[in-house]
Amino acid sequence: MPRLDDRLKAVASQIRCRVHADIGSDHAHLLKALLASGRIERGIAIENKPQPFRNSKATLAGYDADVRFADGFAGLAAGEADSVSICGMGGELMTSILDAHPDRVPEVVLLQPNRRPELLRRWGLRCRFDLVDEQVAIGHWAYPILRFSRRSSDTVGSRDVAYDGLDFEAAILFGPHLIRRWQSDFVDRLKDEATYLRKLDRLGEEPEQRLAAIERLMRVNT
Ligand SMILES: C[S@@+](CC[C@H](N)C(=O)[O-])C[C@H]1O[C@@H](n2cnc3c(N)ncnc32)[C@H](O)[C@@H]1O
Repeated sequence: MPRLDDRLKAVASQIRCRVHADIGSDHAHLLKALLASGRIERGIAIENKPQPFRNSKATLAGYDADVRFADGFAGLAAGEADSVSICGMGGELMTSILDAHPDRVPEVVLLQPNRRPELLRRWGLRCRFDLVDEQVAIGHWAYPILRFSRRSSDTVGSRDVAYDGLDFEAAILFGPHLIRRWQSDFVDRLKDEATYLRKLDRLGEEPEQRLAAIERLMRVNT
C-alpha cells in the first residue's frame, strides 16, 4: 500500500463516493489508497505525460480503475465521476484545466494547489462552486486543500456564504474558512509572512496587497 504524505492523506480523508477522478495522477498513490480503503468503488486516473501515465497504470493494475492519457477534463465525460481531485500543481494550471471543460467538472471538487490558491477561490465564485471547506497540510510548505461543491441551479442569484461578513480581498488571498477558524498555526504563518514582507526594500503590487490584507486581518482579529 502506498504511504501517502500528509498532503495527500488530507485530500483522501475528504473523498468518499462511488466514482472519483484524479487529474494529474502521476504515481496514482491517491487513487490506490482510496480504492484499497474502500472510500471509492472506482477510480479514473488522468495523465498527460507518458511516464506518469505508465506509473499510474502500474500502480492501479488489478484495481477497478481506468487510466487515461488525456489533457485534464478532455479525459472525462460529463457526469462520469462524482468527484474530482487535482493536486500538486500551481493555481494557474489548475484554473486552466477547470476552465477548459466547465460542463465536465463533477459536483465535488478537491484542489490542493502548491501556490496561488486565490485563483481557485476566484474560479469557485466565477463558476458557482461554493467553497465548503479548507484544510492546511504541512509538508515542504503549508499546502491548502480546498473543497468546492457545485451550487444547485435553483439557487439563482445566490452567493457563496463562506465569504459573508469577512474582508473579501483577505478572504480570497488567505481563505475564508481559515480566517474564521483563526487557529494559532494559521495566525503564526500570517505573522511570519508579514515579518518577511516588511523586511523587503521594495514591494511589488501583489506582495503589497498581501501585507495590507494581513495587517487588516490582525487589526480586526486581535
Ligand atoms: C507535480 S505532479 C503531482 C502529482 C500528484 N497529483 C500529487 O499531488 O502528488 C503533477 C502531475 O500532473 C500532470 N499534469 C499536468 N498537467 C496536466 C493536464 N493538463 N492533464 C493531465 N495531467 C496533467 C503532470 O504530468 C504530473 O504528473
